[in-house]
Amino acid sequence: MTLAAAPSPSVRVRAPGKVNLSLRVGPVEEDGYHPLVTVFQAVALVEEVTATEVADGAGISVTVEGPQADRVPLDATNLAWRAAELLAEHVGISPDVALHLAKGVPVAGGMAGGSADAAATLVACDALWGTGLSRGELSTLAAVLGSDVPFALLGHTAVGTGRGHLLTPAMSRGEFHWAFATRDEGLSTPAVYRRFDELCGPTAPPVDVVDDNALMQALRAGDPSALGAALHNDLEPAALDLRPELERTLEIARNGGALGAMVSGSGPTVAALARSRQHALAIAATWTAEDAADSVWCTTAPAAGARVL
Ligand code: C5P
Repeated sequence: MTLAAAPSPSVRVRAPGKVNLSLRVGPVEEDGYHPLVTVFQAVALVEEVTATEVADGAGISVTVEGPQADRVPLDATNLAWRAAELLAEHVGISPDVALHLAKGVPVAGGMAGGSADAAATLVACDALWGTGLSRGELSTLAAVLGSDVPFALLGHTAVGTGRGHLLTPAMSRGEFHWAFATRDEGLSTPAVYRRFDELCGPTAPPVDVVDDNALMQALRAGDPSALGAALHNDLEPAALDLRPELERTLEIARNGGALGAMVSGSGPTVAALARSRQHALAIAATWTAEDAADSVWCTTAPAAGARVL
């Protein structure tokens, strides 16, 4: 009789994508980054990362599943790979792990799917390897990987300053309904920031937290109409300049009664805030019927940060 080999231990972690309800961008600094004041909200479109033990010295491997899996790199340029490598280096162990990513956040759409993979990988490898880092330590490593990674760890709703990585949790009541229109051809975040510099760089006013009082009030009240009116994205003119066809996607959402519509983050995804799930589905259906999106997604917000399943 042969005994079946015991399955390798594995840890599965879920982390959310995000929408920037407000994104205010200041003039570029000497290090090439822009100071931000942003209000993040995590959405229920999620990434799931499974980290599985492999033999000592086997190194890191990445596999991917999901509707846009073919667009995700499987090498050391993948942010999940870099997250595992960074954590191993930080604690002084060999980075041996098989990472499997199940992608539920649109790829290269300004919704931080790659950042969610990185956040989930930090939590998964920390549990698998028994390294026992605190959330604060994981957040410090997350900020090294990318400006949006600390928020994918935290989830819910938060104000981000600095590069977007210094987070203060914010209160939000109830559930908001969103429709997202994505494009197969992504937009490079650095290219959008460069266009922002060309359009309004030196004259961009310094960013200020108090600008978002109406937005914070709308969140506290759980008032979708007030939230829709307060949505704001300083990168939208740059994204529209690079991809003028997004104007029509915005217009269709507004004509469909969206409470607010904007480019999401650095784009090219367009986000529309709806009155209800049915309303979000109707906006998404119109985008599809009018060929104003390559894919459409409906979801709710806020959602929890990275957590072990
Ligand atoms: O931090 P992350 O790797 O996500 O940033 C990607 C690029 O976006 C940066 O290299 C930079 O060009 C731009 N960026 C910026 N200011 C920020 C965040 C990102 O200019 N606050």
